[in-house]
Amino acid sequence: MADTPDTRPVHDWASDYDIFDPDYVRDPAPVWDDLRNRCPIARTERWGGSWLPTRYEDLRTLAKMVPALSSRSPVLVPPPPELREVLVAEAKMFGSEIPPITSDPPEHKPYRRLILPFFSPHAVAERTPYTRELCNRLVDGFIGEGRADAAVDYAQQITPRVIAHVLGTDPARADEFVTWVRGLIEFGQTQPQKRIKYRGIIRDFFQEMVTERRARPRDDAISTLLEAEIEGEKLNDYGVVGVCSLLLVAGVDTTWSSISSSLLHFATHPEDQARLRAEPELLPTAVEELLRFHSPVTVGRKVTEPVSIGGVEMQPGDKVLLNFPGANRDPAAFDRPDEVVLDRKRNRHLASGLGIHRCAGSNLARMEMQVALQVWFDRIAAFEIADPDGVSWTGGQVRGPRSVPVRFTAAQRNG
Ligand code: HEM
Repeated sequence: MADTPDTRPVHDWASDYDIFDPDYVRDPAPVWDDLRNRCPIARTERWGGSWLPTRYEDLRTLAKMVPALSSRSPVLVPPPPELREVLVAEAKMFGSEIPPITSDPPEHKPYRRLILPFFSPHAVAERTPYTRELCNRLVDGFIGEGRADAAVDYAQQITPRVIAHVLGTDPARADEFVTWVRGLIEFGQTQPQKRIKYRGIIRDFFQEMVTERRARPRDDAISTLLEAEIEGEKLNDYGVVGVCSLLLVAGVDTTWSSISSSLLHFATHPEDQARLRAEPELLPTAVEELLRFHSPVTVGRKVTEPVSIGGVEMQPGDKVLLNFPGANRDPAAFDRPDEVVLDRKRNRHLASGLGIHRCAGSNLARMEMQVALQVWFDRIAAFEIADPDGVSWTGGQVRGPRSVPVRFTAAQRNG
């Protein structure tokens, strides 16, 4: 596949959608509404071809179709031939690439079991003081300016440091983590050479860490994984590097997107900003609602046996996009789906997925969102968008704002 993105305009979203279309990236909800009414499972031949379901119930059904829908290749755009060769060879020797997200049963469960303890409520509670201190330190850096980029100066700084804290890697390398994850996921989706380059950088980094921790174990996730066993056998380097790579790529731009989109929402909705300030006890339901409204993650599945759903016939080899963000705007599942309702009572959204692959890091993601918003509201009295043209979004399989320029007044602090 060429290194140039397909930029042909879309004429019919039902038969030729493009998840990288700039208008869709900015606001996909009108497209989902249109499709839900006239073609609830859309089709495209772009980017290797795929199906796009838009109804909540179809998403629930599809996410549970294991193993008819395989997780072995969750990325929509097929790898370039040189990477494909490497992946096929590695899969033959070692199993899936970044388990458990790229694993099917029976391989999936033991890997998932290994990582769940890193994200238990207790483990996440232990990360909370660090996250709070980090958020305050970040605000210290720009509070005197009266303006900041809520995405670049705040959200984007939080998640790579928290995941470095979990993994036991040097938090000073957080900026590199951001470059690598953007290189692999944001730009690498449509630019194969970046995908190859940053996949290599991330794997080399964790291979070095694995070698280092084998020699000098510490009290961190990498050392724990090196001691872990599946069916009485220790993991090999490929497995540990794969799990660590997943935790990095799953833990950085997802939550950073959600923190940025939440701050963008409050910057553009003064009534909600005032409400959360007046009723801080709404924070947990507000976070769920913002996760629903601006869900960042869409994952791919590969069809392994014929699937008949919503009037379409999917064939082995087809790709399906699990469009959790679209399901979360379905009026059949949510009242007023296109409004943010901070105290929404019933909110069975699918932002974290569902079924065997449901987000393993969801406790951590929610803690980071809550602490980031709490500290921001605590330190900043009122804020608004400084430059509407400066707000930018990225899209594809992880969608979120990449720049949110705000101006603000600092809160008066006692003592
Ligand atoms: C707001 C932030 C986040 C969102 C919206 C999100 C969303 C998702 C979704 C939709 C899935 C399901 C994938 C599938 O069905 O194939 C998933 C899986 C996963 N997520 Fe998250 N995620 C977030 C943050 C995190 C964080 C902070 C971590 C921690 C490193 C994490 C780790 C994982 C892992 C390990 C899986 C794979 C689980 C499995 O395959 O069993 N996520 N996430």
